[in-house]
Amino acid sequence: MSEVCPRCGGSGWIILEKEGFSGAGRCDCVRAGRVRRLEDKAGIPPLYRNASLDNFLLPRDNPSSRESLTHIVRTVRSYTKEFPCEDRPGLLLLGDPGTGKTHLAVAALRMLMAKGFEGLFFDYQHLLDRIRSGYDQASGSSDKEAYRSVLEAEVLLLDDLGAHRVTDWVEDTITSIVTYRCNNRKPLIATTNLPDPDAGSTVVERVPGSTSYDVRVTLAERIGPRARSRLFEMCRVVRMPLMEDYRVRHAR
Ligand SMILES: Nc1ncnc2c1ncn2[C@@H]1O[C@H](COP(=O)(O)OP(=O)(O)O)[C@@H](O)[C@H]1O
Ligand SMILES: [Mg+2]
Ligand SMILES: [Zn+2]
Repeated sequence: MSEVCPRCGGSGWIILEKEGFSGAGRCDCVRAGRVRRLEDKAGIPPLYRNASLDNFLLPRDNPSSRESLTHIVRTVRSYTKEFPCEDRPGLLLLGDPGTGKTHLAVAALRMLMAKGFEGLFFDYQHLLDRIRSGYDQASGSSDKEAYRSVLEAEVLLLDDLGAHRVTDWVEDTITSIVTYRCNNRKPLIATTNLPDPDAGSTVVERVPGSTSYDVRVTLAERIGPRARSRLFEMCRVVRMPLMEDYRVRHAR
């Protein structure tokens, strides 16, 4: 149980005095309480619960990635300020693992919750597992609700889009989620490790220590061309710079 607010005694109302008049007004704790409840319901994994733009650090020793990240932080900040932007209500972050995509996506979601919007975090693979087991007679009702909740959530964060294998079922499911949200102008924040040529990613890569090349699996191949094109239509696209995995770097 939280402590009783010292300003309003828990009523949520305070007496405001202004220019000789007095009246009742909402206490700040009402809004703070709502934001706390939104945060509790959003399902953000513990590792990211405090992720914000303030604790997103810029590298000191790499001027070019520092510059790119400064620009990205600015883009994320203006995305949340201007939210909900009519023509592009979503945000898509692409880049290699450990570049801070999930951190930034959660930071954006939390800023929107601070503005009073309801947010919902879902790991892509976990979501597909939940939806699949929702078809199972024996599964609990919470699995059955997973699909509905990602369609209807005010702001959805889909983390690690396109991770793991592809099947027709996966492609159809993700296409229907993205299409529904896009058609209904429902904001979506997504992250992915997969490259996309239109976002400027390199798709052909030199195999280290060899003269041969590898062609990377693209976002379109993993989630299907329809979901991918809908995403680009509804999102501001941010590509993370090439840099070392933050986790590896800080493990040293
Ligand atoms: N620039 C940064 N400043 C502070 N923490 C960071 C930064 N980049 C990544 N992290 C942290 O490193 C870990 C991995 O980052 P994450 O956002 O999960 O990367 P990605 O989603 O791109 O794989 C997380 O705990 C995250 O909070
Ligand atoms: Mg991630
Ligand atoms: Zn109060």
